Amino acid sequence: MTADPRPRIFVARVIPHAGLEPVVDSTDADVWPDELPPPRDELLRRVAGVDGLLSLLTDRVDDELLDAAGPQLKVVSNFAVGFDNIDVPACTRRGIPVGNTPGVLTETTADLAFALLMAAARRLPEGYDYVRAGKWRTWGPLLLLGSDVHGATLGVVGFGRIGREMARRATGFSMKVLYHDVNPASAEDEAQLAARRVEMDELLAESDFVSLHTNLTPATRHLIDGAALRRMKATAILVNTSRGPVVDHDALYEALRDEVIAGAALDVTDPEPLPAEHPLLTLAHCLVVPHIASATVVTRGRMARMAAENLLAGLRGDRLANCVNPEVYARG
Ligand code: DGY
Repeated sequence: MTADPRPRIFVARVIPHAGLEPVVDSTDADVWPDELPPPRDELLRRVAGVDGLLSLLTDRVDDELLDAAGPQLKVVSNFAVGFDNIDVPACTRRGIPVGNTPGVLTETTADLAFALLMAAARRLPEGYDYVRAGKWRTWGPLLLLGSDVHGATLGVVGFGRIGREMARRATGFSMKVLYHDVNPASAEDEAQLAARRVEMDELLAESDFVSLHTNLTPATRHLIDGAALRRMKATAILVNTSRGPVVDHDALYEALRDEVIAGAALDVTDPEPLPAEHPLLTLAHCLVVPHIASATVVTRGRMARMAAENLLAGLRGDRLANCVNPEVYARG
């Protein structure tokens, strides 16, 4: 029996068909079949000797994993726009390009962020629970009073692609938009989105809704801590669709419990998954969903196709269309 001459790859979970099919068709692919990610020891075992890795945000790609894979590893393709699960400098040191899936999930993620904002503002989960619990006996003048979204001030932290799309949605509700980002947006974007760049303190103090769209970096870890929460309005709602650790969850729990802010709506948490017994889940004004901001059929299909294209390009030795460490190509 002759050995399969195709490149060996490991795919860390079953991804949508649009990406899985081209990968399985053109490589010797080992696809992790379970709903849960491969346990660490299994992941290290499975990557040994592979030429390519298609990873998810649940898989830590660091020196240990790269050592376990071996020097023939040519490419790491992450099925996500975020790549805080990957030690990018470690990959760069070894000349391994890392791919991600930017752009295709921008609007879908902004849709979910705005949906969370509206659901928390108008207390939809509480209303739904109320009806399901058989508590709805009459129309109530004081029942489940929420906050107006139209005309309110939205503070966007991180004014990249997704932050700007969040702002665009807000303009449809006649909201005033403040943003905080190290890089100013273009004058054209600011004008089109009626957005004003402010310091973080001003954003926190002035916003009725604070929506987080920043990458997770050492500088943004616990950006929203107890002090930041205390700067927010008592009527304000925090929305997070970025990464869980951007928010200090102990501080958030205390702020919600003590009514320092009015509510929170989280697509991402720290840790993930958030244990069912976590104190935040005892609070009616904290809405949590399981990291589903990009979870639509079309968007996940596009992400899968893009992750597959990055992987296959890396295996061929071609430049990845979406590479987070293009400096690997400058090394000659
Ligand atoms: C990402 O892509 O980084 C999201 O968090 C999941 O789609």
